[in-house]
Amino acid sequence: MDPVDDLFEFLRFPSVSADSQFKSSVDACADWLSARLQRAGLQAQKYETAGHPVVVARNEERPGRKTVLIYGHYDVQPPDPLDLWETPPFEPVIKGDKIFARGSTDNKGQILAHILGVESTLNERGDLPVNLILLVEGEEEIGSPNLEAFLKEHNSGWHADVVAISDTGMVAPGIPTFTYGLRGILCMEIRLRGPSADLHSGIFGGSVANPAAVLSRIVAKLHDDSGRIAIPGFYERVLPLEQWERDLWAKLPYTEQAWLATTGSPRISGEEGYTFLEQVWARPTAEVNGFGSGYQGQGPKTIVPSKATAKLSFRLVPDQDPTALRPLIEEFLKWQCPDSVEMEIVQQHSGRPYLVKPDSAFGKAAQKALTETFGEPVAFIREGGSVPITQSFKDVLGIDTLLLGLALPDCKVHSPNENFAIENFHAGMRLNKQLLEQIAATS
Ligand code: BES
Ligand code: MN
Repeated sequence: MDPVDDLFEFLRFPSVSADSQFKSSVDACADWLSARLQRAGLQAQKYETAGHPVVVARNEERPGRKTVLIYGHYDVQPPDPLDLWETPPFEPVIKGDKIFARGSTDNKGQILAHILGVESTLNERGDLPVNLILLVEGEEEIGSPNLEAFLKEHNSGWHADVVAISDTGMVAPGIPTFTYGLRGILCMEIRLRGPSADLHSGIFGGSVANPAAVLSRIVAKLHDDSGRIAIPGFYERVLPLEQWERDLWAKLPYTEQAWLATTGSPRISGEEGYTFLEQVWARPTAEVNGFGSGYQGQGPKTIVPSKATAKLSFRLVPDQDPTALRPLIEEFLKWQCPDSVEMEIVQQHSGRPYLVKPDSAFGKAAQKALTETFGEPVAFIREGGSVPITQSFKDVLGIDTLLLGLALPDCKVHSPNENFAIENFHAGMRLNKQLLEQIAATS
């Protein structure tokens, strides 16, 4: 079977973890994956959790070999807005040299590349050079709420030496990229209530607070005029950027022009005193992900809305701790809120930031695997995105994570028309072989 056909099967499951409507598809996707891993020659099992299942596959554990834990996720982000997809999100197609579908890059294409790399080594040699634990979860896109407990439960049976993940980016096509830092995340929703129902804005408007206007003012206070977050204490544990990183990043093949072209925004904006890469990779943010209030249909409607909501997420950098920041943020929001409306704050998921020294023995093995795979020197970066479980691997299993991403800058993860370069799919299989070999060879 052509690897691309395998990926197409995987991509056809609408395994959207955020929306309970897709629950049976998430489950079916886990079953497919488990069966596929069996077929690849591994011992695979689907484990139920309080949320979506985790799929784990292993080869025969032999003493004296290194043990590598390869992590990925089979869940995907919601495909919305559907009308902006050129072809349906769960009907994968090849256009040019790319595969288009939700999850193609994030993360089905990348994790399947590892699985097929393993299968091919097993077919060629009958064995792998390492003990392998392949762990593919179904809740990464909702913050991995059950995975840390799952790790703790299985901790005594698992002795991995290092984790490898392909769920991050490459700086450009063909440039092998080693990511040594990720941002953390903290999500919450603000709900304001003014009048008990939408009111006639002529009869009542002016006499009671408008929750949409109040919420806009509160949200606007999150930043000061220089783009810094105005919440007292927010920056307390932020580690400053090191000069070597600033120097290294300045030489990467990124331009403001290309960044703007990828985003479609008219100009760079954000915290003053930092380049756009520094803003994204090493500085925290406060972001509004969704804002809703009042009438959204066609034409005018003269009301004072009863309610307004905003979905917020904060990206965090080392050494910020979401648990410590939650109450600070909540206190700030409550302090900004007038008593003319009622405020409710619904706390959502969080994940810690991650930072690792790139020059450990396993780090060097991974970099050698990257160079062998792509035939180019490795770029060292941090990323603005989050893979919340990485810090838990450190805390629970006591091991570092190697982040060897295959996502291209224009692959549109989380956006309409997400795609994966077929070339990177094949590179991922080669990378897997190199990685296992190089890790086996570390002393
Ligand atoms: N693969 C991404 C994370 C990522 C993307 C890292 C690009 C680096 C570059 C991952 O699947 C993801 O999207 N994570 C979520 C986590 C969140 C929902 C808890 C994220 O970062 O928004
Ligand atoms: Mn994602």
